[in-house]
Amino acid sequence: MPSRVLLLPGDGIGPEILAEAVKVIKMLRRSHGLNVTLEEGLVGGIAIDEMGDPLPGETLALARGADAILLGAVGGPKWDSLDMPMRPEKGLLRLRSELGLFANLRPAVLYPELEAASPLKPEVVAGLDILIVRELTGGIYFGEPRGIKILENGEREGFNTLVYRESEIERIARTAFRIAMTRKRQVCSVDKANVLESTALWREVVGRIAQDFPDVQLTHMYVDNAAMQLVRRPKQFDVIVTTNLFGDILSDLAAMLSGSIGMLPSASIDHQGKGMYEPIHGSAPELTGRNVANPLATILSVALMLRYSLSELQLARRVEEAVHNVLRKGMRTLDIHTPGMRKVSTHEMGDAVVAAVG
Ligand code: IPM
Ligand code: MG
Repeated sequence: MPSRVLLLPGDGIGPEILAEAVKVIKMLRRSHGLNVTLEEGLVGGIAIDEMGDPLPGETLALARGADAILLGAVGGPKWDSLDMPMRPEKGLLRLRSELGLFANLRPAVLYPELEAASPLKPEVVAGLDILIVRELTGGIYFGEPRGIKILENGEREGFNTLVYRESEIERIARTAFRIAMTRKRQVCSVDKANVLESTALWREVVGRIAQDFPDVQLTHMYVDNAAMQLVRRPKQFDVIVTTNLFGDILSDLAAMLSGSIGMLPSASIDHQGKGMYEPIHGSAPELTGRNVANPLATILSVALMLRYSLSELQLARRVEEAVHNVLRKGMRTLDIHTPGMRKVSTHEMGDAVVAAVG
């Protein structure tokens, strides 16, 4: 039985970068025995335009039936004035939540070829290899009550709720510790336990789960300090485990250490390894339709999909190696371009990776 892969191109540069990733998948299918079928669905702004819902029932049904999902990006200025429940972003959030994709893995790796593209000094970032494990289906993104209400004096008040249950903290902590066992065996749990009760509980529960992983060294850090340390001395980190909101913010920060947010893939997985794979960058409206966006984060998301959901470890390495190869040859999209390198388009970058996959 072939594995079912659902493609969700989404908005902005989403369709352009996903098309390049699909070329890579088709190459693996043609020449390397990858046994997958590809389906396609609508999510985000395009789904609002065509179906009146950022996550149409058809898409959710396809997603439930799929073994893995590859997503481009959602959102854009066109839909920014819509009410919150009708925003493109809601499609993505509901997909994560409905499928129980609670663990979001966001690696920040600096390719040696891209040291010059990082805004930080080479000695600060050379060899960088961090994994942010972000809790993805809880916290303030999903907490109730939420809304905007009108107070007695007529003033409006916006409110959200930061909640974490022990079970939610336990499962994300276990994921982080298990992955740390395959890496440098260090976990830094990031919270704001000095101010927020929900993250005081977070700190306590992560500490308890750590006892099941005696080989892993656990440290705790407040989120403000973590932001500073990520810029000051990023290589002190191996695995960072944190809440939904803190993970959203810190992963963008960590992405920049690696030269460009256009390089970084992510995996969002459930308790059985089913996953959704997407670049961590957004829909980049200003780059849309110009054939300049960097498809490498999406192509690297294919590698994560091969590794975590399709058990194709060799093919995953093959794709990652191919990305290394094109970088070594000096090919650079706009976002990672530095003097002396060859500037290439989205299509050229995709084609080069396909050729390197061989
Ligand atoms: C991300 C994005 C999303 C998030 C948005 C698009 C809802 O920023 O995946 O990091 O905040 O989770
Ligand atoms: Mg984000």
